[in-house]
Amino acid sequence: MDIPQQLIEILAKAKSVAILTGAGVSAESGIATFRDPDGLWSRFNPAELASASGFMSNPELVWQWYNYRRNIIYSAKPNPGHHAIAEMEDLYHDFTLITQNVDGLHQTAGSKKVYELHGSIIQNHCFDCNKPYDEEIDVSSKKLATCNSCGGKIRPSVVWFGEMLPEKTLRESERAAGNSDVFFSMGTSGEVFPAAGLPAMAKANNAITVDINPTPTQLSKAADYYLPYTTGEILPTLLDRLKPIISNQ
Ligand code: OAD
Repeated sequence: MDIPQQLIEILAKAKSVAILTGAGVSAESGIATFRDPDGLWSRFNPAELASASGFMSNPELVWQWYNYRRNIIYSAKPNPGHHAIAEMEDLYHDFTLITQNVDGLHQTAGSKKVYELHGSIIQNHCFDCNKPYDEEIDVSSKKLATCNSCGGKIRPSVVWFGEMLPEKTLRESERAAGNSDVFFSMGTSGEVFPAAGLPAMAKANNAITVDINPTPTQLSKAADYYLPYTTGEILPTLLDRLKPIISNQ
């Protein structure tokens, strides 16, 4: 695997590092991505399953689809890519992990501070009154959970198409991108904004940008360094080369 020594040296000197992850980072944990040929959006209709209007017209269908995904996610384990990202957090005083993933695997791997731009499939709230719903979800049940306060329908706390991203999380992510010396995008197609705009925001503020993806995207083309590997294979190697240099500084 070819990682330029120059990039390792830049990373060793960097004071502030930010990482944006996408579904590809969880692919090696057995969780399907969205836009790959075998991805979720090749088999399912996002307008029907990942929008407020879809939920209003068929809440049971949407609930069952999220239970199908929860089932996979609950039995998935973090892969070497997640673990390497968690270890990187300890190398830098100023480190920010921004994820579009809703599966919670970064936290399971030990990442302490995670900005979840697209929410979390593990959390739920009431569609009607917005109150958080903390009870455990029975993923085998076809019946929609209802709100203990108002009787409204419970929905996953993920950001659906047409919805705003959590404002503070987005603001903090943009701030981190703007302040970073090195900004990584990894495992993302770069198709969904505003997340996909973060690398350009970092670059406009003089960050070195790095993209990791086995299949090149617009982000790969725009990056200062493009590493054409899976995150599970390249990140442990990158960490092995970086750690001794940082610990000898
Ligand atoms: P996509 O499915 O759009 O893109 C996944 C990317 O990961 C692709 O570019 C793949 O080439 C790459 N990939 C696949 N396996 C990989 C691996 N092992 N290592 C590294 N990269 C790999 O997923 P996202 O970019 O995350 O939104 O999609 C963004 C958003 O679109 C998602 O958060 C979701 C979706 O609609 C919501 O649900 C709100």
